[in-house]
Amino acid sequence: MPSGQDYEDWVFTAFPTSSQIDWDTLANTYRDLSAQVISTHLSSGSTGKLETKNSEANHIIWALIYGYRTYFLTSRLLQQFGITPNSLAEFGSGVGPGGLAASQLGTKRVTLLDHSREKLQQSARIYAASGSSSPQIQVADLRTETYSGTPVNMALFSFSLAELSRSIPGNPMRNSLALLSNALEKVSEEGHLLILEAGTKSGAHFVQDLRDNLPGGLEIVGPCASQPKCPMDEPDWCHFTWPISPGSATSRIAARAKRNLDRVHSSWLLIKKTKTKSASKHWRLLEKRPAGKAKIQARCCTPDGLITLTTLKRNKTHYKWWDEVEVGAALRSESSLEKKGDGFRVEPNSKILVLDEHSSPQNKAPT
Ligand SMILES: C[S@@+](CC[C@H](N)C(=O)[O-])C[C@H]1O[C@@H](n2cnc3c(N)ncnc32)[C@H](O)[C@@H]1O
Repeated sequence: MPSGQDYEDWVFTAFPTSSQIDWDTLANTYRDLSAQVISTHLSSGSTGKLETKNSEANHIIWALIYGYRTYFLTSRLLQQFGITPNSLAEFGSGVGPGGLAASQLGTKRVTLLDHSREKLQQSARIYAASGSSSPQIQVADLRTETYSGTPVNMALFSFSLAELSRSIPGNPMRNSLALLSNALEKVSEEGHLLILEAGTKSGAHFVQDLRDNLPGGLEIVGPCASQPKCPMDEPDWCHFTWPISPGSATSRIAARAKRNLDRVHSSWLLIKKTKTKSASKHWRLLEKRPAGKAKIQARCCTPDGLITLTTLKRNKTHYKWWDEVEVGAALRSESSLEKKGDGFRVEPNSKILVLDEHSSPQNKAPT
């Protein structure tokens, strides 16, 4: 899979005038945008609220920095779940970084929908620079229009559903469900719907509420661990933090803007349109962190609720194993764990497996 550096090279090839723009302009634009994204709890410039002095730099930052976030997440999740949709429609796509990630993994037909004709036109240049075939584009105001093409195997809302649903008058949850239902009408049976939102408290609560209110005929593929309702209550929020490796210029811009770009925080939901639900009963690793110097604690979402697993450093095999397991992985315990305090203790003879989530879950890496 192409790297963050590849992605950056494609964006700079697509925006040839960028050589006219100096580093300070790009860094100042990124700093202004990111401050506005944080203060408005939005993740888009579409409402006209997120404006910067230099509009060309604004476009570059959206494609380069925010686009890379979507490119990385889409790519990671498609690979984790072993999904390569033959066709994909990206709603509120901007320059279409999610579709680009899918295309790099083998998706044949990508359609991008956005109300910004300018962003859609930029997408063609980025896709061309990457060697992907040109996406089909549909200029659409998604508050009132939806995808009008032939059915697809995957619909993707990347950092767009929460914002779209709030921009329509009325109840945001009802609006989101209506937007999803319109999109799902164009998703073929056994196809998927992926929603990416910021891993902030409000982004996560939006995704958690949505998950609890989904209509029938859908299976939640991830990240949830089979409970009827999300077990994560205030003040917690369900999100995943993953390290990223942006390209060198991207890192340089972030450093000048004094923003940290070595990890991405995201809340997401992968849904399958199906009549036959699988009975997989995994745990989902939400986070892991050292607790003092002598132990590591891993927090998991399980069919029985949230649990904390504690592993002592002297349990060398498991301690090292936790170091290697990535947050977001699906786990299963094949031995009963001893209850200790308000969590469970992982002992040297405990057996925890990482599940391979490709279509038929199989054991991958026994400890
Ligand atoms: C945060 S950006 C996300 C862009 C892209 N999906 C990504 O992940 O980088 C939100 C996108 O939604 C688009 N958008 C916002 N309101 C829209 C509307 N009413 N109709 C169509 N697109 C809209 C914006 O133009 C913008 O490209």
